[in-house]
Amino acid sequence: MNLLRRRQHVSFLCLLFVLWTCLPARGNESSDADDVSSASSATTSDDGTVLEVDPKGYIIYCPCMGRFGNQADHFLGSLGFAKQLNRTLIIPPWRTYKNVPFDEWFRVEAVQLYYRVITAENFMRDLAPTVWPEGSRIGWCWLQKTKDDGESYCPMKEGNPFGPFWDGLGVNFDRHMVYKFSYTEVDKWKNEYPGDKFPVIALKGAPASFPVREHHVPLHRYLQWSDLMESQANDYINTHFPGETFVGIHLRNGPDWVNACSHIKGSTSFMASPQCLGYKNNKEVTKEICIPSVDIILSLTKEVVESTKATTVYVATDKDPMLDTLKNTLGDKVKVIHQDPWLPQLDLIILGKSDHFIGNCVSSFTAFVTRERLVTNKPTSFWGFSPE
Ligand SMILES: *[C@@H]1O[C@H](CO)[C@@H](O)[C@H](O)[C@H]1NC(C)=O
Ligand SMILES: *[C@@H]1O[C@H](CO)[C@@H](O)[C@H](O)[C@H]1NC(C)=O
Repeated sequence: MNLLRRRQHVSFLCLLFVLWTCLPARGNESSDADDVSSASSATTSDDGTVLEVDPKGYIIYCPCMGRFGNQADHFLGSLGFAKQLNRTLIIPPWRTYKNVPFDEWFRVEAVQLYYRVITAENFMRDLAPTVWPEGSRIGWCWLQKTKDDGESYCPMKEGNPFGPFWDGLGVNFDRHMVYKFSYTEVDKWKNEYPGDKFPVIALKGAPASFPVREHHVPLHRYLQWSDLMESQANDYINTHFPGETFVGIHLRNGPDWVNACSHIKGSTSFMASPQCLGYKNNKEVTKEICIPSVDIILSLTKEVVESTKATTVYVATDKDPMLDTLKNTLGDKVKVIHQDPWLPQLDLIILGKSDHFIGNCVSSFTAFVTRERLVTNKPTSFWGFSPE
């Protein structure tokens, strides 16, 4: 019953979206909190449903730390946190050099099967005028700063990507709030910051940790690529190696990475390393795991190509795809393909579809693929690491 209702809600939102994009002009904005839909004429004509305001409130954050891989880790943790708080998650756009609406890359309907969410763009357009009007916007931060004149404030929009992120959504902050609790103290958040007093919690950073906490890893099943992204990846496969068995490999070897790996010095956890070493362990993140030698890369790739009888190796990298070296090692019968797509996300999708994937255990880019393959139950290996 619950699921059914949710489905209706979902399809209703889709319908609304279609109507909005098709309508030549927007209707008058209603200020009535019970009917915040601006296309109310369209809503009542169909099944009478209206966009409801969540009395438990909303939560949004800036995905302001790291690139896509880190942001995806943060998204999963934030989704889990929002559900625990029982506030609707306003899904922020991904942050590249610009804001990329979540639904350009992923299906919102899939996330809605897990929990109540709304994209930031839809929230700002449809609900913000009533739920979070200008003049009432509070920026929440953990640590406040002090201005030269002694006044304290939250640096919500200070620097990049913080400023451009909120500007992209048309948000300025009128006041600030310094919160006191960690993201694990859920009851305190609920008691201290109820939805009727604080309808929108807008956080300076994600209410989540990096790497993603272990119990949030399975939430990846709700992160499903949009049809547009899927079809772009499928088109590439169908053009270059249709129907072939293929091994996907991720070579993280840019200068920033070489530098990062020089700092591991005997640690048991470094960036995304729990994906292969586990969350509780005393195994060391070795140099070979972080930045594997050419020998390790060639021998593991060859081994996996032979065991899977793959006819194609698909290489994703931030720097050096090692094409000639791989071709020399694998021989004429194996195609080695490197796309360098206009969106790195297309690499992620294709790696996710490979018959066997070999990734870098420390990389959050690899971790995205690893989590997806846990969901789809496909095999993954890591450079420089052998599971017992
Ligand atoms: C929209 O409707 C409200 C309330 O009925 C009214 O006050 C406002 O002037 C209208 N705005 C426009 C642009 O028609
Ligand atoms: C969570 O919020 C929803 C919607 O506001 C409400 O119906 C539900 O009872 C709440 N659940 C809990 C456990 O508070």
